[in-house]
Amino acid sequence: MGKDKLKRFEEIKSFPNVMEPPVMETYEKKGQWHKEIFKNDNPIVLELGCGKGEYSVGLAKLYPNKNFVGIDIKGNRIYIGAKQCIEQDINNVMFLRTRIDFINNFFDTDEIDEIWLTFSDPQPKKPRKRLSSKPFIDRYSKFLKKDGKIHVKTDSDLLFEFTEEEIQQYKYNCHELTWDLYGDYHNQLSEDQKKLFEIRTHYEKLFSSRGSVIKYCCFSL
Ligand SMILES: C[S@@+](CC[C@H](N)C(=O)[O-])C[C@H]1O[C@@H](n2cnc3c(N)ncnc32)[C@H](O)[C@@H]1O
Repeated sequence: MGKDKLKRFEEIKSFPNVMEPPVMETYEKKGQWHKEIFKNDNPIVLELGCGKGEYSVGLAKLYPNKNFVGIDIKGNRIYIGAKQCIEQDINNVMFLRTRIDFINNFFDTDEIDEIWLTFSDPQPKKPRKRLSSKPFIDRYSKFLKKDGKIHVKTDSDLLFEFTEEEIQQYKYNCHELTWDLYGDYHNQLSEDQKKLFEIRTHYEKLFSSRGSVIKYCCFSL
């Protein structure tokens, strides 16, 4: 492991906004995110596979009256977003380092209001590992509030087509769906909605620079 990575792993242990609880155990603060972690009753939004946490941090600035939790297994990526929050005194974002496969150990019934899946790995050979697949949606359904929205933003045709098929097959409630977010669809959005999509993640910038068209959908269960 590189020297920089090791330094980050050491430093992140002292960050007040990063949690690394044991993955396989029920987290002691499950069901206590409002009361004990954020210390308010504001809605909680998850970004799953957050990487450096651009959406969590960007949305936290846009919506100071909501709480955000960025979740990823890679500590050296989470480090970037967490450090930015500390430096900029952003207090409505927490980061959780864990495998999303075990997410039900961390959140309780009705604890979460919304979920963002930002440029999730398309997992070409393992559909069941896709974060918008039925096994994962079933996990989210255990803590997502009724009518809670799931947002999917991706460059991947494979993942987007798959997600669209899952929405149809399992009769999820589709609110928005576009194969070209920044095309005509974008021109019809309100100024508030446009702000949501001004946030560009590391992977979005990378894929866009290679000519990928960005796709977006939003659905509830
Ligand atoms: C392609 S990157 C996207 C990162 C970021 N959202 C962005 O747009 O720049 C996918 C991220 O999801 C994380 N990830 C994928 N599967 C995961 C899982 N099962 N549990 C936790 N993190 C996962 C990876 O570690 C990686 O950081």
